[in-house]
Amino acid sequence: MTEPFLPYGRQEIDDHDVAAVVEALRDPFITQGPRVDAFERAFADAHGAPHAVAFANGTAALHAAAAAAGLGPGDEVLTTPLSFVASSNCALFVGARPRFADVDPHTANLDTARAVADGHADGVKAVVAVSLAGLPVDLEPLQGLRDRGVAIIEDAAHAVGARRANEPVGAGGLADMTCFSLHPVKSMTTGEGGIVSTASAELADALRTFRTHGIVRRSEPDDPLLGPWHYDIDTLGFNYRITDFQCALGLSQLERLPQWVAARNRIAARYHELLGGTAGLQLPAEPRAGEVHGRHLFVVRFTEGARRRRAMFDALREVGVGTQLHYIPIPRHGLYRSLGYGDATMAELPEAQAYYEQALSLPMFPGLTDGDVERVAREVRRLLQAPLTQAIW
Ligand SMILES: Cc1ncc(COP(=O)(O)O)c(C=O)c1O
Repeated sequence: MTEPFLPYGRQEIDDHDVAAVVEALRDPFITQGPRVDAFERAFADAHGAPHAVAFANGTAALHAAAAAAGLGPGDEVLTTPLSFVASSNCALFVGARPRFADVDPHTANLDTARAVADGHADGVKAVVAVSLAGLPVDLEPLQGLRDRGVAIIEDAAHAVGARRANEPVGAGGLADMTCFSLHPVKSMTTGEGGIVSTASAELADALRTFRTHGIVRRSEPDDPLLGPWHYDIDTLGFNYRITDFQCALGLSQLERLPQWVAARNRIAARYHELLGGTAGLQLPAEPRAGEVHGRHLFVVRFTEGARRRRAMFDALREVGVGTQLHYIPIPRHGLYRSLGYGDATMAELPEAQAYYEQALSLPMFPGLTDGDVERVAREVRRLLQAPLTQAIW
């Protein structure tokens, strides 16, 4: 009997989630209803943040954060080459220009200490720091910039439910705004969805206004034209709203987030036990003392290089194990080439290039059984012993 195909990631939806969404759909407000506020409050509390503002998706959340930070044409934004393109597109959305610095070879996160020491952050108006795979990016080296008014935006799309030593990711002690994605492949979901947490009431207001067309309510008791219906639009905004029934799903999912993060960490520990010491295989960096890894992805590196990684992708697929590359470095994309980035940019980012040639995400989601993890590890070990024979490899 052939074994079932294992995807690299999968959402968890149970009867409680379904019932919560059905209940919300029976209420009069299916878009901006009470569950939006309730979800924002619960998410903020779970991440130790004073405020959270929910969006239609994580990309909208990043766009709103870039706008709330006041970024615009002429501004430069320091970020990582190793992320989904939304992490740097948020600069482009507001007319700013991304500037890429290299990653730490151990964590694959932006090497913030080196970026600051080498002057890559000089003159930037903001940093978008990504906690890749759910491992908290080191924000400490950026605090001096923050003191000088540089906005620190954490892209924690992968780090829902993760922790730094002194606070949960998103609590706001080290970043002005933290953007999460709630896409189904992430650690909890609202279907499509995103949310920004912040310690600043002012930024939370700006985020809410941006989410709804830039609308501000302004009525005057003594002016017959400015009744309770009156609103004004002072700034450009979008319709980036999330719906009430999506937030019903978010509230229901949030209850199980801690158990899912724990399950993901148990799976990661098992992979480490089963795959540790395998020749040609580098396992992901462990979190530092006191940190909790969000474990959205389990990215291994095939140290022989791109040919071996390609062979492993194909061979694992043949035995029913789905894997994925996270990510093609952003400067390599056609859009970025057309903006003047490309091979010359990558030549200055050797650690990101090395990661690009070697990385592959193995299956990682809470529903993986012990047997699934053992099967994946067994296949990885077996296939790694095969010689690289085919012409393409
Ligand atoms: C690091 C990162 N940032 C931002 C996003 C964008 O989130 P969304 O898909 O919810 O728009 C993603 C989604 O894949 C992501 O992985």
